[in-house]
Amino acid sequence: MKEYANKYKVPIIKDEGLIFIRDLLKIKRPLKILEIGTAIGYSAIQFQNSCDCEVYTIERDETMYNEAVKNIKLANLSDKIHLVFGDALDIVEDFKDMKFDVIFIDAAKAQYLKFFVLYTKYLNDNGLVICDNMLFHGLVLQDNYDELSKSLRGLVKKLDAFREFLLVHSEYDTTIYDIGDGISVSVKK
Ligand SMILES: C[S@@+](CC[C@H](N)C(=O)[O-])C[C@H]1O[C@@H](n2cnc3c(N)ncnc32)[C@H](O)[C@@H]1O
Repeated sequence: MKEYANKYKVPIIKDEGLIFIRDLLKIKRPLKILEIGTAIGYSAIQFQNSCDCEVYTIERDETMYNEAVKNIKLANLSDKIHLVFGDALDIVEDFKDMKFDVIFIDAAKAQYLKFFVLYTKYLNDNGLVICDNMLFHGLVLQDNYDELSKSLRGLVKKLDAFREFLLVHSEYDTTIYDIGDGISVSVKK
């Protein structure tokens, strides 16, 4: 899967980030994880392997979704990993009868705040929200964003605002780790 991701430039989680999250999952032992942003199913399979949990994962891109279906079948995990095709911003109600122990956000960076607000209503007490790319190639937390292109600047500013939002949120204790592309872990109090 890593070779495929490399060849077709699919942005999957970096090794250091994955090792860190797998260790967290081994400690946390979640029964149910929700992932926003499946891509080809790489992280979903890795998460499932690390804690024998059920994973629900959402993908809006049809090519990615089909590739993930194939990979999850090949891994014999179709009964443990539930792929949901759609835009996470539109299908939040599909999860209304579920509760998750961990929510992993790894989709459109500009929408992280929306994903967090929409989906944390389905998080159990003491649950974790984990977000990847919080330092976004070292671009978040720069002193000066002026040298970035306009679209990249907008994106980085949104991630920066989301980081602030997490750090001051009264219902969560958040730490941002300089691991992989930057990983935040927010524990629901
Ligand atoms: C960084 S990749 C996910 C990588 C994957 N978690 C892994 O590490 O193996 C982000 C994926 O999120 C999907 N995505 C972006 N915004 C989305 C949305 N609003 N709803 C569902 N999927 C989305 C993209 O199509 C892309 O495949």
